[in-house]
Amino acid sequence: MQTLPSSSPAANFDMDDWRSGYRSQPNEYSYEIEHIDGTIPAELTGTLFRNGPGLLDVAGHPVHHPFDGDGMITSISIAEGKAYFRNRYVRTAGYVKEQAAGKPLYRGVFGTQKPGGIWANAFDLRLKNIANTNVIYWGDKLLALWEAAEPHQLDPNTLETLGLDYLDGVLKPGEAFSAHPRIDPSSAITNDQPCLVNFGVKAGLSSTITLYEFDPKGRLARTHRHNIPGFAFLHDFAITPNYCIFFQNPVSFNPIPYLAGVKGAAECIELNAKQPTRAIIIPRDGTGPIQTIDLQACFVFHHANAFETDGKLYLDSICYQDFPDLKGAENYLEADFNSIPEGQLWRFELDLATQTSQATCLIERGCEFPDVNPNHVGRPYRYLYIGVASCATGNAPLQAILKRDLTSGQEEIWHCGPRGFIGEPIFVPRTHGTAEDDGWILNLFYNAESRCSELAILNAQHMTQGPVATLKLPHHIPYGLHGNFTQNLVLPQ
Ligand SMILES: [Fe+2]
Repeated sequence: MQTLPSSSPAANFDMDDWRSGYRSQPNEYSYEIEHIDGTIPAELTGTLFRNGPGLLDVAGHPVHHPFDGDGMITSISIAEGKAYFRNRYVRTAGYVKEQAAGKPLYRGVFGTQKPGGIWANAFDLRLKNIANTNVIYWGDKLLALWEAAEPHQLDPNTLETLGLDYLDGVLKPGEAFSAHPRIDPSSAITNDQPCLVNFGVKAGLSSTITLYEFDPKGRLARTHRHNIPGFAFLHDFAITPNYCIFFQNPVSFNPIPYLAGVKGAAECIELNAKQPTRAIIIPRDGTGPIQTIDLQACFVFHHANAFETDGKLYLDSICYQDFPDLKGAENYLEADFNSIPEGQLWRFELDLATQTSQATCLIERGCEFPDVNPNHVGRPYRYLYIGVASCATGNAPLQAILKRDLTSGQEEIWHCGPRGFIGEPIFVPRTHGTAEDDGWILNLFYNAESRCSELAILNAQHMTQGPVATLKLPHHIPYGLHGNFTQNLVLPQ
């Protein structure tokens, strides 16, 4: 493995290139991918599901922030060296109504307003469940997730929307179910089988966290509910065999601009840098007290992983020094990267006995979208895969994938720039592989030169050699958010 050279290229992306990846994709496709450079590994079998905003406008009215865009699912099914592509919109109630009306009917959480100014938006507090954040196959169901409401169930073959899914009565209508479930590869409560762990949060002056654990058939194995003081903006969490760990960002929420129809709800969040970020540690079995440990102030969307060693908890998390909003830009396309803080990977060591913490920065380079070998979720692990900026310092779009050896500190990187913009890397272990990094990294990235998207398949042990296969789509997929690879599901073609 090579150490990352200190002379990594500076950020030299073109803003118009970057912006061009945010064009709406109104078309829905279904075809075998014909243009493949290299060879898809014969052992790589399964389906990659991705979710993200597919529409960046509603009938010509642009969204204020891509997080307000309607969810579009992409699937790429791979078997015997071939690949089949599909994309389809989640037919949420809001999507169906707006497409029929030919105009925006809802406000967005991240600042999109209906036409008509404050008179049209003030006190309209309806939520549009846009199902745009993640998609996961669990318990023979394909679920599109958005953290503030219930999942939508989809047909895994056709991606047709089957309707809202209440998880066999576990959720009540409108109840939150996070878009960041974690899969424990082996849990005692599921007889050492994998276990899906997730949460829902109801935020207010005090906040309520509900934890859920599901067996491989999708049956509820365990649930418990906890109240915590203060407003809680919780996008993600981490698990170990014994704990669920949340970072309660030190933020305040002033609802007045939202109620007045001036701002989206998420735009009313402010980071209080003088307050600590608080780790909330909840025993997974629901017994024992919740522990809290104060950390240095930072804002966290995503955690890479967590593990337990010698009575201590370790969390690897992407930290921002300030809330990474648009910093006053007219909209996301006009955002000034230099004014927005970059994410950096920090390791937090939490001592449960003394309730103290230590933090160490592991990756200073701007980074986001971490992933690890799924067999090491919640366990000690060595290799991290993460999207990074091409430049060593400062904020810039993600244009490379970094593999970090957390034991030696060595790094290996694959750049897809200067005209490529990567998405979330997903590590797929080789079946019967023994080494932690024996597998592939899948990355759906946008190539601004061709104005199309491509799926890169990288051998995780030889990343610097570039993709072993690049699947070139004849169209683009707007920058996405999260997804998963399901090894046991190969769709009929
Ligand atoms: Fe996320």
